[in-house]
Amino acid sequence: MKNLFNISLIEIFGLFLLLNSCEHKPKELIKPAGKDSIVINPDPVTNCDSSIAYFKNDILPIFTSNCTGTGCHNAVDRAEGLVLTNYKNILKLTDTQDPKGSDLWKVLVSTDPNKMMPRAQRLSASDRNKILKWMNQGAKNDSCNSGCDSTKFTYAADIAPIINKNCMGCHSTGATKIGTYNEIKVQVDNTNLWTDINTLSGPRKMPPSFSLSVCDKKKIQKWIAAGAPNN
Ligand code: HEC
Repeated sequence: MKNLFNISLIEIFGLFLLLNSCEHKPKELIKPAGKDSIVINPDPVTNCDSSIAYFKNDILPIFTSNCTGTGCHNAVDRAEGLVLTNYKNILKLTDTQDPKGSDLWKVLVSTDPNKMMPRAQRLSASDRNKILKWMNQGAKNDSCNSGCDSTKFTYAADIAPIINKNCMGCHSTGATKIGTYNEIKVQVDNTNLWTDINTLSGPRKMPPSFSLSVCDKKKIQKWIAAGAPNN
């Protein structure tokens, strides 16, 4: 009787662990996005004008990568009540009549550690200038076809710039390091890179608040399929 009792306790505990682990596993882990799950359409022909700073192509990635990390201006943490993942909310910080007088510009150029944004490190001059240009051009909610050519997918010329533009705001500080070839390769080999950029919702979606363009995903997909060379 005593023996039986012991066994069933162990069994119950085992069953509990099993149920518990299933319940807490995010959907994405059970059903990883397959390598073939993106639709391969022909690459778009570019209609971007290099003299224009487009919101969706040029500006939004700067905000998502640099301002929406953990504890910052994302939909969950809402630092200072600000969520900077969409056009409407970003527009509120701008001033198209007086771009350099806008709240946005003031925090971007401030060197006061209590005011400057991002707190950790100023944006690059090139990113700041894109934002200024976009305000000078009327802070429109516009976009263009980058004409991204998915037949080009070398690490240095194509893959690293995609990661720098879309991921490094978060991943150069707290989050898993993906800034060098070796660091990225780890995430290729453990399948996280492809799974996360191809996941459409939930905590594993990367970047968290938008998706890479289909063409950028295609480049990464082809690069991984080619063995993710350091070329
Ligand atoms: C807004 C901030 C943010 C952006 C932008 C972002 N990430 Fe993340 N990422 C995180 C956080 C937070 C985690 C979870 C903590 C960790 O693993 O470091 C994470 C985790 C990861 C992980 C590893 C975790 C895992 O087990 O799946 C990978 C791989 C990753 N991100 C790839 C990317 C890529 C690639 C991009 C750009 C295309 C990107 N991330 C953009 C914040 C971000």
